[in-house]
Amino acid sequence: MPEYSEKVMEHFKSPKNVGEIAGADGVGEVGNPVCGDMMKFTIKVKDDRLEDVKFLTFGCGAAIAVSSMVAEMAKGMTLDEAMKLTNKDVAKALDGLPGNKMHCSNLGADALHKAIEDYRQKQAS
Ligand code: FES
Repeated sequence: MPEYSEKVMEHFKSPKNVGEIAGADGVGEVGNPVCGDMMKFTIKVKDDRLEDVKFLTFGCGAAIAVSSMVAEMAKGMTLDEAMKLTNKDVAKALDGLPGNKMHCSNLGADALHKAIEDYRQKQAS
């Protein structure tokens, strides 16, 4: 049994910001090539800030904890700040992940960044 930090367990047991924002300003979806798990982020943007962030994750416990943490951290950030958020920052905020679960942290920030790129593309067109 890998060792999970208390923070991972907390976010796994009661994940925050689960769901899908209706009429989202941006949508980002990514899949994990290692295990096939999927993550979808929807965002609401106001005055260049992330007003709301929600996620749906079809994946393991670590992936769920990562999504929950990403959404928590990103809310209220400017788009530029959120683009700088890395998977490493997220794993660190969760007090680390077991070595064989590090790949699960890869999806979180990527899905968020994709949602922001989607928003920016829509703005530009
Ligand atoms: Fe798939 Fe963790 S095992 S994301």
